[in-house]
Amino acid sequence: MRSKVTVVGAGNVGATCAFRIVEKGYADVVLVDIVEGLPQGKGLDMLEATPILGTNVNVIGTNSYEETANSDIVVITSGVARKPGMSRDDLVVTNMKIVQGVTENIVKHSPNCIIIVVCNPLDAMCQMAFHTSKFPKHRVFGQSGVLDSARFRTFISQELNVSIEDVFTCVLGGHGDTMVPIISLCTVGGVPITQLLPKDKIDAMVQRTVNGGAEIVNLLKTGSAYYAPGVASAQMVEAIVFDKKKILPCSAYLDGEYGIKGVYAGVPCKIGKDGIEQIIELKLSSEEDAALKKSAEAVRGLLKVMGI
Ligand SMILES: NC(=O)c1ccc[n+]([C@@H]2O[C@H](COP(=O)([O-])OP(=O)(O)OC[C@H]3O[C@@H](n4cnc5c(N)ncnc54)[C@H](O)[C@@H]3O)[C@@H](O)[C@H]2O)c1
Repeated sequence: MRSKVTVVGAGNVGATCAFRIVEKGYADVVLVDIVEGLPQGKGLDMLEATPILGTNVNVIGTNSYEETANSDIVVITSGVARKPGMSRDDLVVTNMKIVQGVTENIVKHSPNCIIIVVCNPLDAMCQMAFHTSKFPKHRVFGQSGVLDSARFRTFISQELNVSIEDVFTCVLGGHGDTMVPIISLCTVGGVPITQLLPKDKIDAMVQRTVNGGAEIVNLLKTGSAYYAPGVASAQMVEAIVFDKKKILPCSAYLDGEYGIKGVYAGVPCKIGKDGIEQIIELKLSSEEDAALKKSAEAVRGLLKVMGI
């Protein structure tokens, strides 16, 4: 039996994520959007690519949730994206209502699914999906750290002219200005980055990672990044479908881990068939620990705005 994955939001990120799954051929995909014809058209286009891709999966697009019934995984990408000058937090009021409505539909039609939240402000939207679904915490989490870590990896590999395969990074905290790159865990071929680059160069790349989303928003003028966010979300889906037990930085509900309780924040998680199977607690420096707590407090501030 192939897995069934629903992607809600057939815009830039949703369509990229859906197509990545279709391309790899490990799950049937249902694409949902409120715009009539959009998910149907993109779904059919993707299906017509399967003979060339050589993948035997089904893809359908729809404006309703009946076809999504009994999905194993639902990826929520529905919501507005940033425009130049906006922060992710500026999206909270619009996107919280969208995520709430979408989650209610998901729960009704796929009560046993795992939800991966992608829309922004990410950590607050995870909390909204968790609050609305009443699913256990291991079945509701968000994509941010996979993308943020990938951005940091890209900059390091470009700077040192080495294969991206040899670069490991770890970015924790919120998906926003308060993200926390853990420099002590950044390595190139196993060598700590601090032995390869001076502090000012590392600091500049950290800053570019923190502003990674805004850099692309400013170039695009309308809309935000989607290729890297789309494949980052698909990587999380893949870790679940293949029960990979892969360690990925995810926005997870913290229940005392890292001394933080009752709020979502980006931490390393073991992802397998049950969703988050373990939250890995790293030994952080006092600076990193303070930055992670600050990041969680920023998310808590948004919860007040959302009234949850
Ligand atoms: N977590 C991350 O790393 C990350 C990265 C990039 C973008 N994002 C976020 O993802 C979201 C989507 O970005 P995008 O670039 O795909 O935007 P987009 O505008 O291209 O697509 C959003 C889609 O959602 C649809 N939609 C709106 N309300 C809906 C509803 N109630 N039900 C179903 N569909 C609905 C819209 O019609 C649209 O097609 C934004 O909030 C953006 O900020 C997150």
